[in-house]
Amino acid sequence: MLSGAAVLAVGWQVHAEPNRVQFPNLDELVHYTTVRRGNVTEHIMTTPAAIEAVKQGNPIPPGTHFVLVDHRDGELYRYFVMERGAGWGDDYEEGRRTGDWQFQWFWPDRSISVDENTARCQSCHSSQASSDYLFTGYRIPRFDGTPVE
Ligand code: HEC
Repeated sequence: MLSGAAVLAVGWQVHAEPNRVQFPNLDELVHYTTVRRGNVTEHIMTTPAAIEAVKQGNPIPPGTHFVLVDHRDGELYRYFVMERGAGWGDDYEEGRRTGDWQFQWFWPDRSISVDENTARCQSCHSSQASSDYLFTGYRIPRFDGTPVE
């Protein structure tokens, strides 16, 4: 089962390094959308304050986490986490910077994948610079308590 997941993950092969991102308290986050692709199910969540901010058209506050809980064949596979902090963009040179967001990959035991760096996360999410580096933020205004699909 794991080898199947590993094969599938090849297109997403990125490595992580320690940075400022801390694993959040998942109980405080709201699951606002689900993305399904083959045997992959992603539950995407953030704070109630961020949901409110997006709905009001206000900036997402520092301290916000976005978490993508990645399941393969119904089993928890990993967590992808974005966290914003005031001035955190300064940790990176301009070409790599994604606003004040930093990215991290956590395994189910909440350890991080330490082989390399999170530049690839940033590189891909840079395409969403005009949407605060979020791919699914546009779904938040439609969220009324049931995860948007
Ligand atoms: C090749 C492009 C790509 C790379 C690389 C990538 N992401 Fe994403 N990310 C996406 C897409 C697309 C979504 C929207 C969900 C989906 O379609 O699977 C997403 C969604 C997310 C979300 C939910 C918030 C949002 O933007 O909608 C988080 C959190 C996230 N990614 C973190 C990470 C982390 C951490 C890494 C690196 C370990 C990473 N991503 C690498 C494309 C990418």
